[in-house]
This record gives sequence, structure tokens and C-alpha cells, in this order.
Amino acid sequence: MTLKAIKYGNGKLEVLDQLLLPTQTKYVNIKGVEDGWHAINKMQVRGAPAIAIVGCLSLAVELQQEVYNCKKTLRQEVEGRLNYMVSARPTAVNMKIAADDLIALVNSLDEDETVDVESMKLRFVQAIERMLDKDVSDNRAIGDNGSLAILSGKKMDGPVRILTHCNTGSLATASYGTALGVIRSLHANGKIDQVYCTETRPYNQGARLTAYELVQERIPATLLCDSMVAALMKKRHITAVVVGADRIAANGDTANKIGTYQIAVVAKHHGVPFYVAAPLTSIDFKIPSGDHIVIEERPDHEMTHIGDYRIAAPGISCWNPAFDVTPAELITGIITERGTFMPTEIENLRYISRQHMS
Ligand code: MRU
Repeated sequence: MTLKAIKYGNGKLEVLDQLLLPTQTKYVNIKGVEDGWHAINKMQVRGAPAIAIVGCLSLAVELQQEVYNCKKTLRQEVEGRLNYMVSARPTAVNMKIAADDLIALVNSLDEDETVDVESMKLRFVQAIERMLDKDVSDNRAIGDNGSLAILSGKKMDGPVRILTHCNTGSLATASYGTALGVIRSLHANGKIDQVYCTETRPYNQGARLTAYELVQERIPATLLCDSMVAALMKKRHITAVVVGADRIAANGDTANKIGTYQIAVVAKHHGVPFYVAAPLTSIDFKIPSGDHIVIEERPDHEMTHIGDYRIAAPGISCWNPAFDVTPAELITGIITERGTFMPTEIENLRYISRQHMS
């Protein structure tokens, strides 16, 4: 059974508390934007697509509890709440793109004189609700496109060995996953020999979350410390690396979980194809290169402690960037719901329309 990180229905939103996994499975009730902001900021829910979906659904929940008499008040409320939500985590672009699209929608509903305040609210909430289904169908398409790209690009016969980093599965999306969706699709076609997942220090998304999903799905998988990637590529033939993305610049430079860049460097050295799997909503066409991506820095506590237990020497200072940027020249292909593209082709996708939120 695929894990459900986000439960939504009848105006109620619950998210699986990913701080407690894999030892406890507990859902947190999100009653509105303030709860959503804190769940995202504390990383009870994380992963670029899931951040956007939970951020927007928490607004949908809040709106359904309120009564609005005036369209202008509703528009102003929506705009303020969405801009606030974007600040919860700055690097992943999906929430910012969803906020921009939803603000455009609320503005056009406000201007449309045939729409009253009640139907304005209803249509706005329905647009948010459609994000859930769209994310699942996009992930399925990414899975199939990625599986095709990897199988057609491989140099050796037989099942494949894939290395992945961080968590990009059902816990990071509405369901199925992006890079993990590619792995699921390969597995469903009987093509996986072995998946290697890094533990992904310091937050351990790989050891706690990806390992959990792989075990649940009975996909043959092995856990590695982040420092073992070069040794793995030297000792065992790895068919391809597949990772997710938090923000892809127009030139294909890709921000993803810290440690991704060093894996790409090592993959290049060993001639292993390096793929990024992400929906079009992870592409920020407004920035020409990865130099413009703001990298979130997280608290020292994530590095110095495991749970409440201190592992680092007291007094040491820490640097804890949550993401790094992999230069486009290290990326073999970017797998999207529209197909797999070379980083140099990303710019051409600018005019492919995204989900229409009307
Ligand atoms: O800090 P996180 O756990 O939110 O970082 C997650 C990642 O870096 C993922 O690879 C990315 O968001 C894609 S999730 C489909």
C-alpha cells in the first residue's frame, strides 16, 4: 500500500508527521494557514511538491471556515496568506509558482462581474483541490518517462541499479513520487536489480523516509552513508542516478537536497548518467541560472543532535545549508511529465502551459 502523506476531504486536512517516521505513524491536523506554515517550516511535511500542496490546501481549509461578504476582502486575504506561506521554506519553487497562479486566479475572479463572492470562494478552493490529482498524474507520467529514458540509455543488458538521494516518494508528493516514481515504474516492469539510497544527512530523509517507502513497496534496496557514493560507483556498476529537484533554473542548473552536487560530480567521473526527475512546476523560468537560487540554511540542531541526543562536541559551530546547486553540465537529462529533456532544452519549455487554475 502506498503511503498517504496528505489526507484531505470534507474541509479537513491532515499530514503525516515526518519527524516521527519511521518509528511512529501519526497525523497532524492542519486547521489553517498558520498550522500549515509551521508544519512546513518544522519539516513535519517536506519535499517540494508536498510543500506546495499542503501550503495551498491549508488555505483552502481556512477559507471554508470563514464567511466573506465582499470579493475584495477575499482577494486581499488570499493574497496575503499565500505570500506568507511562500516564506515557510524559500528554496523549493513549487509553492511560489502555485501562489502566483492562485493570485492570478483570484484577481480574475474578482474582476469577473458574473461571479459572486460565494462562487468565487468555491471556484478558488476547487482549483486548489485539483492540485492533488494533477500531482499524482504528473508523477505517474514522470515515472514512465524516466523508466523509458533510463532503459533506453543503459549500456549493459539486464535489470538496473539505481542510486537516489533524499526522499522524493509518496511522502514528498501527493503520491507515487518523482525520482522514486521512476524507481517504482522500473520496479513495476520488473527492471530493478537494486536501488541504493543515501541516508541524506543531516535530516536523514533517505534512511528514515526513502528506506521506509522502499521496504514497504518490497523494492530490493540498500542503504548507504552519503560518504560511500564514490566507493559504490567504483565497486559496483550503477546504471543511473535519479534525484528530485527543489528548483530548476532556466539553464537547467538544479537545486536539490544538500549532497546532490557531490553525487553528480562523482557520477561524471565514473560515467554514470545523472537524471533529475521533477514536474514542470519545479522549473523557475524567471532565473537564468542556479546562481540566483536562495539556499535555505537550517538550525545547527539538525547536525549536532539525533533526536534529543547530542552527537557533536559542544561549542563547535555549524554550517547547515539544506540544498546545493548541481550545474547543468553534470545533468544527463531532466525527466518531466512532458518527457525527458537535456538541460539546454529546458528554456524551450517556458511556453508550455502549466495547469490552468480557472
Ligand atoms: O528538505 P526537504 O526534505 O524538503 O528536501 C527535499 C528534496 O530535496 C527533494 O529531493 C525535492 O524536494 C523533491 S521531492 C519530490
